[in-house]
Amino acid sequence: GKVAVLMGGSSAERPVSLMSGSGVLAALQSVGVNAQAFDPAERPLHALKDEGFDRAFVALHGRGGEDGSLQGALELLGVPYTGSGVMASAIAMDKTTTKRLWSTADIPTPAYLSLSREALTRERVRTIPDELGLPVVVKPPHEGSSIGITKAKGYSQMQDAVTLALGYDDELLFEQCIEGPELTCAVLGEGANAVALPVIEIRAEDGNYDFANKYETDTTQYLFGSLPAALEAEVQRLVLQAYRLLGCRGWGRADIMLRQSDQRPFLLEMNTSPGMTSHSLVPKAAQQVGIDYPHLCLWLLAQARL
Ligand code: DAL
Ligand code: MG
Repeated sequence: GKVAVLMGGSSAERPVSLMSGSGVLAALQSVGVNAQAFDPAERPLHALKDEGFDRAFVALHGRGGEDGSLQGALELLGVPYTGSGVMASAIAMDKTTTKRLWSTADIPTPAYLSLSREALTRERVRTIPDELGLPVVVKPPHEGSSIGITKAKGYSQMQDAVTLALGYDDELLFEQCIEGPELTCAVLGEGANAVALPVIEIRAEDGNYDFANKYETDTTQYLFGSLPAALEAEVQRLVLQAYRLLGCRGWGRADIMLRQSDQRPFLLEMNTSPGMTSHSLVPKAAQQVGIDYPHLCLWLLAQARL
């Protein structure tokens, strides 16, 4: 059959998706899969059906690709697709809803506030650090790749951070800043059969794993085996629990802060369509357990379903 690699799209992460999709497309073709690129921003999705594609590899990131809407459309079209279904995709795309759900199961996540555009008067913004301390991490909850995020170090930075984030979302997430290295942990599979891959510790040049340090520089370091074994196992256990709670399938990647002061992990979010660029994390973690990039793509494709 013919496989569509869905890439591009119209979210703010379009450039990242084009990189992910190019990698996936080349990898699938290299192992003999009849795969073609398909950009939902340029063509109506039902063309998939008309043109005889019988499976879709979702290499889209962000709104309209990772948030359940595309997954719902593929369900209705009857085209099996990689990764999580409608509900898990929709929940995971909203960092605030994800945190609420995790909190009900005592999965540690940084303290937070969720405030709407209307509620965010100058006076209200000024009181946020009283509740969450400084720095405060200001996030548009439906974005990825650190787009629209500011680590506000002082009161004066707060208003600019809010203005920036409101460019992406009408309701913002304010998170207590956890000082420590950032970790990431990928999961493959579903439910009881899901497995966590080795944890990666990320050391970005200036301590901020932002858009530039994610995709544009070669100075970010990715460390395996840097945590004590018991802590690594604890992080994997929490991530698996968090993944299952959201109902994810296929694959996912949790991003985590490890608090320097007491070595406690705090989960930030779950990505249901993780990056597959040459700088991305899931391919590195898979490689660490002997799964090369083309085989990772093949395996994910084999899990595609409705
Ligand atoms: N949102 C980007 C693609 C990631 O999490 O890898
Ligand atoms: Mg993300």
